[in-house]
Amino acid sequence: MKTFNFPIRSSKTIKAALGRELADIPSDFPALFKPADKICLVTGTDAPPSLRARALALFPEGGVPHSYFWLPPSEKAKTLEQAGKLCSFLFEKGFSRSSLIIACGGGAVTDLAGFAASIYMRGINWISVPTTFLAQIDAGLGGKTAVNLGGAKNIAGTFHQPALAVCDTAFLDSLPHAELRSGGGELVKYAMIGPGTLRRAIEGHLSKTLAGDKSALTACVSACAAYKLKLVAKDERDENGSREALNFGHTAGHAFEAMSGGRLPHGEAVARGLRFALIASREAGLLGREAFSGLDSLLGALRLPPAASVRRDFRRFLSLVSRDKKARGAGNRFLLIKAPGRLHAAENLKPALLKKAFEGALK
Ligand SMILES: NC(=O)c1ccc[n+]([C@@H]2O[C@H](COP(=O)([O-])OP(=O)(O)OC[C@H]3O[C@@H](n4cnc5c(N)ncnc54)[C@H](O)[C@@H]3O)[C@@H](O)[C@H]2O)c1
Repeated sequence: MKTFNFPIRSSKTIKAALGRELADIPSDFPALFKPADKICLVTGTDAPPSLRARALALFPEGGVPHSYFWLPPSEKAKTLEQAGKLCSFLFEKGFSRSSLIIACGGGAVTDLAGFAASIYMRGINWISVPTTFLAQIDAGLGGKTAVNLGGAKNIAGTFHQPALAVCDTAFLDSLPHAELRSGGGELVKYAMIGPGTLRRAIEGHLSKTLAGDKSALTACVSACAAYKLKLVAKDERDENGSREALNFGHTAGHAFEAMSGGRLPHGEAVARGLRFALIASREAGLLGREAFSGLDSLLGALRLPPAASVRRDFRRFLSLVSRDKKARGAGNRFLLIKAPGRLHAAENLKPALLKKAFEGALK
């Protein structure tokens, strides 16, 4: 057998611009925009009209006219078929390796458009412009792109770092409460995995954030994005463990999302996955009752609606978690928690413990 090892071109620099009511991004990043021969703005068909107006304030049509591509709403966007349609559209419009994709929308739009950018002509530059709270603190940052397959989440995907991420919290003004709450699931995750400073900042802003307070939202986006990008810079391709904490609550969360047929919003599924991890940690003797109550009260603040769309099918749950990308060949593998900021990876947890956590998480 012959093997080859070639160093790969690691990411350039991870660049992000954050703030409220930003404008004319190309004038701030001329090195990125000047060489672009064509620009495609990708967004969702269900985006409110204000989203497009804000996008044009960020990226005014200058010398290079924009092409527009519309994706179906939310998870319906995340298919290989949609990635193929977008690539074909770019080809018909004469997009080259010097062209630029601007993905402007929730995490479904940034996941799909980033994926298409990574495969079109073997990879072109893209800009991630997350417009939901969840995507500004998580999905739109870090360069993981994906589509869903066979009803399971993010089964095909790539690492393709955006050349720039732009988080403008003015987009959040039009976000319905349910989407703020969904972002709250990932926000609470950061409070559980991050250092004390981040946890205290989130605890201090949590209720105002869920009520749509502009300065609380901007403070949370800025703190969480800075934390996520720091982890990503240490472990761009999720290889050395630094980035793993970001998956806390996601193994069970992704299973709940799949078991709802995609009807449970991602952040609510993550929140239920976090509760699953807290219960499993308590039952495994890792997390004391007092620490459990403190962390669980953060989830209580989200006031999650009943997860009626998730089928209570424990066997299907076991099958989904055993096939999770992060299971690494074990029967099951979960990140558990010993204390805020201290995670512990556990493999092959017993079905009785998992069932207790499953039932508690979906209560
Ligand atoms: N790549 C990653 O690292 C990563 C991390 C976390 C989550 N994700 C993925 O992100 C997705 C979830 O993202 P999401 O929560 O943003 O959901 P989403 O993309 O489904 O968007 C939710 C809804 O909000 C609407 N919307 C978007 N911006 C809006 C605005 N400014 N005002 C009003 N409505 C707006 C959308 O049109 C959509 O109907 C999931 O597919 C998940 O797997 C990816």
